[in-house]
Amino acid sequence: MKKKTTTGFATKAIHEGQEPDPSTGAVTVPIFATSTYVQEGIGKNKGYEYARVSNPTRTRLEQNLAALEGGTSAHVFSSGMAAVTAVTQCFLKQGDHLICGHNVYGGVPRLFNQVLANYGIEFSYVDTSDLAAIKKAMRWNTRIVWIETPTNPLMVLTDIKEAANVAHAGAAELVVDNTFMSPYFQRPLELGADMVMHSTTKFLNGHSDGLGGVIVATKPLHAERLAFMQKTAGAILSPFECWLVLRGVKSLAVRMEKHDENGRAVAAFLRKHKKVKKVLYPGFPDHPQHELAKKQMTGFGSMISFETGSLKNANKMLSKVRVCSLGESLGGVETLISHPATMTHAALGEEGRKKIGLSDGLVRISVGIEDVEDLIADLDQALSAI
Ligand SMILES: Cc1ncc(COP(=O)(O)O)c(C=O)c1O
Repeated sequence: MKKKTTTGFATKAIHEGQEPDPSTGAVTVPIFATSTYVQEGIGKNKGYEYARVSNPTRTRLEQNLAALEGGTSAHVFSSGMAAVTAVTQCFLKQGDHLICGHNVYGGVPRLFNQVLANYGIEFSYVDTSDLAAIKKAMRWNTRIVWIETPTNPLMVLTDIKEAANVAHAGAAELVVDNTFMSPYFQRPLELGADMVMHSTTKFLNGHSDGLGGVIVATKPLHAERLAFMQKTAGAILSPFECWLVLRGVKSLAVRMEKHDENGRAVAAFLRKHKKVKKVLYPGFPDHPQHELAKKQMTGFGSMISFETGSLKNANKMLSKVRVCSLGESLGGVETLISHPATMTHAALGEEGRKKIGLSDGLVRISVGIEDVEDLIADLDQALSAI
């Protein structure tokens, strides 16, 4: 079948890897619900042997996500955390060192500290918004610098280009968790990162109906090892969930535009509200890294955190929301509101949260694409409970 010419982001999202099915003409990629593939003879097959190794629905999704991030390969896993695990399994061994941002998604340090540290891998946590701190933490055995920008939930940015330079000055590669921005608003590989990770559970899927993770990479060795790890450790994404992401990304561009538009309006509303003590949002001109945000992102997204003053206040407010849904996760079409201290960042412990400045009164909102007036009215009535 003739390959379509794809140039713009929205066109790529709809057509890369999403070409009509060559055997039937179906315009959507079929879900290949099969565990194995019939072979014509020993060593003679159509490129597919066993579904842990590869599956055509998965191949299509991987082509699509590689194109959206501008990478040379993509490998999908059963969750974002499975993707993080795969990176560490592929590129770290006993005695290696990883530098991690100190306020990334709490599940990442939980994996590093409570699982991988037992295998002799060393970890340092630094404020990666401070390049001197990354430089200082670099060692001869540092293999990976792991950043999230903006961070979850404190909305602190790291300069991707500069962080890549620091990593490359040593023997390390830069991996960027791009979950918050999606490739629509930020493409770290174009800025020098070596790999990009996503929890596809979030904006890429966009409909809160499936978990998933992806590593988009830039070198043949990355692709080789990640494919090996899919086959060997087996935490692959199911064909159905691959299909859900393929369907989700078709509307990524329009969803992100609307998320951004609603995010700006909600951030402005929260900032003026007398019950809100502080709003963390890189779209504000007085956000300490607003200039960097404009330089490396093409939108501000819809992740906003705000301070209610105490756990009691946060609880009062969160129990009153009606249009916003109280729950973990983010990036869905519906507005999700959460309490990082007891949800996503509970594993850090009180001391760990204190260290990074994550208070008990902080509330995080992933602004959805509903009518923004309804969201603002809902937040207003919920805040009046404080
Ligand atoms: C920024 C970020 N990275 C990684 C993850 C982990 O992804 P998953 O929940 O799909 O395992 C999350 C989950 O909330 C996240 O927010």
